Amino acid sequence: MNIGLIGSGGREHALCQKIYESKITNNIICFPGNAGTAQLAKNVEVDILDFKKLLKLIRKFRIELVIVGPEEPLVRGLVDFLHKNRIKVFGPNKFASKLEGSKAFMKKLCKQNNIPTAGFKVCTSKKQVYDFLNKNKFPVVIKADGLAAGKGVTICENKKQVLNISEEIFKGKFKSSKKIVLEEFLEGEEVSYFLVVDKNNFKFFGTAQDHKRVKEKDRGPNTGGMGAYSPAPLINKELEKKIIEKIVKPTLRALKKGNNPYKGFLYVGLMIKNKEPYLIEYNVRMGDPECQVILPRLKTDIVKIIKSCVQDNLKNIKIKWKKEKCMTIVLCSKGYPGYYKKGKLLENIKKIKLRKSDIVYHAGTKIINNQIYSNGGRVLNITSLGKSFLKVRKNIIRVLKNLNWKYGFYRKDIGWRAID
Ligand code: AMP
Ligand code: GLY
Repeated sequence: MNIGLIGSGGREHALCQKIYESKITNNIICFPGNAGTAQLAKNVEVDILDFKKLLKLIRKFRIELVIVGPEEPLVRGLVDFLHKNRIKVFGPNKFASKLEGSKAFMKKLCKQNNIPTAGFKVCTSKKQVYDFLNKNKFPVVIKADGLAAGKGVTICENKKQVLNISEEIFKGKFKSSKKIVLEEFLEGEEVSYFLVVDKNNFKFFGTAQDHKRVKEKDRGPNTGGMGAYSPAPLINKELEKKIIEKIVKPTLRALKKGNNPYKGFLYVGLMIKNKEPYLIEYNVRMGDPECQVILPRLKTDIVKIIKSCVQDNLKNIKIKWKKEKCMTIVLCSKGYPGYYKKGKLLENIKKIKLRKSDIVYHAGTKIINNQIYSNGGRVLNITSLGKSFLKVRKNIIRVLKNLNWKYGFYRKDIGWRAID
């Protein structure tokens, strides 16, 4: 089977590696991929939001199944577009993608179906903001309604901050939407729970915890993710049952009732407080870097899983996992998540000594004249499997020290909750 993979991050390199290992795969074409996927697949440079151009390329390379990595093409309706053109594609349609594409949509769905989540108000005016602030205490969480590339959420300690940020969003700071969602602040521990979902069934697809803040001890501004580990020690059978019964099932039922059954990977972002799960967010895709710690633990052929999902036949597949623990640490360009320079040579990357259980996933990288250069804020995801998170982390840091990239930095405390 010829497979098309859309995206260019560490998540897509991890997906590409698993697709490459599948017995069903013939060729993989990455749109546009990175220096890591280039070693496994053919990279084709294209704007992934230019659906017509994508379709032409999908036909040109005789692609039989398209797998979509990132959220933006999903939210803009790539799945609907490819379906109309009779191309097989894995991922949710435009309507179901609103679970991630519109926080107002997601929160309203929660309210209508009694799904536990933080109290909230969708606001389109200053007056509504004042109303919420009068009834709630600080901190207050302010969120842009639409996609905001990880920059749409702020935890505010005072009124002035809420008013400034809401004003900016009302004026159109984010092109995706001018609405905001105000939420009460939930205290607790965050965890991510993953599923693969078809029209009739869903299957467990791993758990992970990530570190969003840029600095050690989880301080500083939010990023796309500085590291992750799987499985999440926080999840047990009792909690899992609550997540499924109180959150997942009512959500999937509601979408089905509206004639838009969910299909694809589903990322359930949760806050756990007093052993109870609260939904923080849905993402309509795998997480990045969560995917990089979940897939190395997967034993079952990923293309078989995805194929049976596309055929609404997930019921008949058994998904198996390795017992080992997995962690990834993200090597970032200095300055990230603020301004950083691209195009810096990763001079030691071909020399580093890896053990059998180590994997270097590429994220923001590019090949120029056979050399690998940085091409983004998150550059490499150094990943490893092992018996304990502590041992795995030590090993990853050994690799990072070997790499000795002077233009980068990374967090040395990934997994601290699971280790200390
Ligand atoms: P989101 O994009 O909705 O996942 O928000 C980004 C991050 O902000 C989350 O991963 C949480 O760390 C934090 N966050 C979002 N909503 C809340 C909330 N209601 N209470 C506490 N923290 C939150
Ligand atoms: N690591 C968070 C995300 O993928 O949204």
